[in-house]
Amino acid sequence: MEAVNIGLLGLGTVGGGTITVLKRNMEEISRRAGREIRVIAAAVRDVDKKRDFDTDGIVLTDRIMDVVNHPDIQVIVELIGGDGEVFDAVMTALDNGKHVVTANKALIASKGNAIFSKASEKGLMVGFESAVAGGIPIIKLIREGLSANQIEWLAGIINGTCNFILSQMTEKQREFGEVLREAQELGYAEADPTFDVQGVDAAHKLTILASIAFGIPLRFESVYMQGIDNVEPVDIAFADELGYRMKHVGISRRTDDGIELRVHPALIPKRSLIANVSGVMNAILIQADAVGQSMFYGPGAGSEPTASAVVADLIDVVRAFTTDPQNRVPHLAFQSDSLIDAPILDIVDIETCYYLRMKAVNRPGVMAAISAIFGETGISIDSILQKGHGREDEPVTIILLTQNTREKNLVRALERVEKLDTVRDKVVWIRVEQLS
Ligand code: NDP
Ligand code: HSE
Repeated sequence: MEAVNIGLLGLGTVGGGTITVLKRNMEEISRRAGREIRVIAAAVRDVDKKRDFDTDGIVLTDRIMDVVNHPDIQVIVELIGGDGEVFDAVMTALDNGKHVVTANKALIASKGNAIFSKASEKGLMVGFESAVAGGIPIIKLIREGLSANQIEWLAGIINGTCNFILSQMTEKQREFGEVLREAQELGYAEADPTFDVQGVDAAHKLTILASIAFGIPLRFESVYMQGIDNVEPVDIAFADELGYRMKHVGISRRTDDGIELRVHPALIPKRSLIANVSGVMNAILIQADAVGQSMFYGPGAGSEPTASAVVADLIDVVRAFTTDPQNRVPHLAFQSDSLIDAPILDIVDIETCYYLRMKAVNRPGVMAAISAIFGETGISIDSILQKGHGREDEPVTIILLTQNTREKNLVRALERVEKLDTVRDKVVWIRVEQLS
C-alpha cells in the first residue's frame, strides 16, 4: 500500500523526537499502522538552524501554509505551540480535508470546541494524546478504557516542570530559579515558562481531562489557577515535618452543585502514591464507580516520551482512514450532541482541608482567640502547633491544620484572624488534599 504523507509544523523538542522515533521504529510502526508513515515536509521558524536529528527527505520551509496546503500531505502534525497562527493553520488543514495530530494543549483547551466541531463536520480526526501528561496514554485510557464508568473525580500531577521544581526544592533544597533554568534546558518547560509555573499549562490539561471524564465542553476560562511561583521553602519543610509533600495538582470533581476545576499547590499525605511521584514524572489518580481508584504514571514531558504519544496518534489516524466517521471514538469521549454544559463551581464553594502558617505574638490567650474565630466560623481544627519558644510578646510561628470546610468559611475566618492585633502579616494558607 502507498505510504501516508505527513507534514510537520515545528521541529523543536517534540518535533525532533517525532522524527527520531518515526525513523528508528519505522518498520514496526508500518506493521502496526498497515502503511508506511513518511514525513515529507516540515515548517520551522529558521530553516538554516542546525538540528541534531536526521532531516533527510524532509523539505523544510518557514511558511506554515505551504505545508498545510501541500496537495500530497494527508495528515498535519502541529508541534509549534500557541493558539494564534496555529489555530488558523489547523482550521485550514481541516478545510483542506487533512487529519490533524497536535501536542498543543493551549490550542485544544482554548479553541478545541471549534476545532472538533469543524473536524466532525468534515469527517476528520484530531488526535491530541500528547497534549496531556506527555507519554502517559491518559486520553485513550479515559476515553476508551474507562468508558463503562461514571468518573467521580480525578486528580493529577500534570505539569512536569512544576513537579521537577518542587521535587528538587524538597529533596535537594535547591533554589526555584536555578531549577526552572534546568527544566528549560532539559526541554520540559513551555516556550514561555510562566505558563508552567503560574499553572496555565496544568489548567489547559485539566480542561481537557475534565471534558473527556465528565462529558462537558472544554471550559478553560472557568479553571481556578494558581501556580508554584509563590511557594516558600519554609512551607515545604513544615509540610514534610507534618507528613505531607507539596505538589502542584489539577483536580476535577463532580459534585451535586457542579464541577470543580482547579489547579494549585497542595499538601498531599506522604503515604499517598501520588505524593511520591517525583521529578518530571506525571501521575493521574482517577476515582470511578466501577473500577474504583486507579493511578496512571509516566513521563510528563520531554522529547521522545511526548513523541511516543504523537506517533501513537498518527498510527490511530492511519488505521482509521477508511472507517466511517460515525463509528470513530468521539474526540471528547462523549457523542458531541450529548455533551452537557454543567455549571463549574466557584473556588470559594469547594470543600477541602487547609494548612495555615501565621505569625502571632507569644502571649497567653493568643491561641484561644484564634481557635475561637475558627469555632465561630464552623471550622474544626485538626491540629495546631507553635514553632519555637519566643520570649513573651515576641512573634512566633503558628501552624494550623483544619478539617474539611468550605473555602468561603476559611476566607471569612482569615479576614478576622488577620485583624487580631496579636497576629502579624498575612496568613499563608495552602489546600490539603487527602485524595481518598
Ligand atoms: P519548541 O519550542 O522546542 O519547538 C517549536 C518549533 O516550532 C520549532 O521547531 C520552531 O522552529 C517552530 N516554530 C515556532 N514558530 C514558528 C513559526 N511561526 N513558523 C514555523 N515554525 C515555527 O517547542 P516544543 O517542541 O517543546 O513544543 C511544541 C508543542 O508541544 C507545544 O504546543 C507544547 O506545549 C507541546 N508539548 C511539549 C512538550 C515538551 O515536553 N516540550 C510535552 C507535551 C506537549 P525553529 O526550530 O526553527 O525555532
Ligand atoms: N511544559 C509542559 C510540562 C510540557 O512541563 O509539563 C508537557 O506538557
